[in-house]
Amino acid sequence: MADFLGFLTTFLLLVLIINVIIRKMVRKYKFKLNPLLSINSKISKYHKLLALAVLILGTVHGYLIVGLRLVPHTGSILLLSVLIMFLLFISGKYGHYKSWFIKHKIFYYVVLVALFLHIFFKNIIS
Ligand code: HEM
Ligand code: HEM
Repeated sequence: MADFLGFLTTFLLLVLIINVIIRKMVRKYKFKLNPLLSINSKISKYHKLLALAVLILGTVHGYLIVGLRLVPHTGSILLLSVLIMFLLFISGKYGHYKSWFIKHKIFYYVVLVALFLHIFFKNIIS
């Protein structure tokens, strides 16, 4: 179950990441009238929901493996980065924290690295 949740969370995170990459490419290269782009803009509407699912499922997956202990692990770093992205959004929306978005975009790269490490070099810390 824990492994299945890990893979499901990874799948959702990859959908989120690919969606963002296509969005960035569309802005840069100004593609037009491609059916793929309309699918991508539909997925964009679920950005928050996908990220929230990653946060919840990632927490359950981690809980099933290590319980409530706060262990230093590549998985904890990944989950913490997604949590920070969520908190940045909340601080922008409800706390009028203006630079939330730029920091959200910076943490996107932290998530990329943390996901890579958690999948391919799971136990480099601990
Ligand atoms: C967004 C959050 C997370 C994602 C996407 C994720 C993804 C995954 C995936 C896909 C695997 C299976 C890899 C494999 O079998 O090769 C895995 C395993 C593992 N994850 Fe996570 N994980 C997340 C959060 C966490 C957290 C918070 C912890 C706990 C500190 C954690 C600890 C572990 C451990 C110890 C394994 C190895 C389990 C085993 O070998 O049976 N993960 N994770
Ligand atoms: C629950 C957590 C999250 C919330 C509430 C959230 C919310 C948002 C919002 C409101 C925006 C601006 C509007 C939009 O482009 O849709 C945005 C943009 C963005 N988000 Fe998130 N997000 C979350 C998690 C994530 C995660 C986990 C990633 C990394 C994969 C991510 C990557 C990005 C990026 C790169 C942008 C800028 C997109 C662009 O340049 O067009 N977000 N996010």
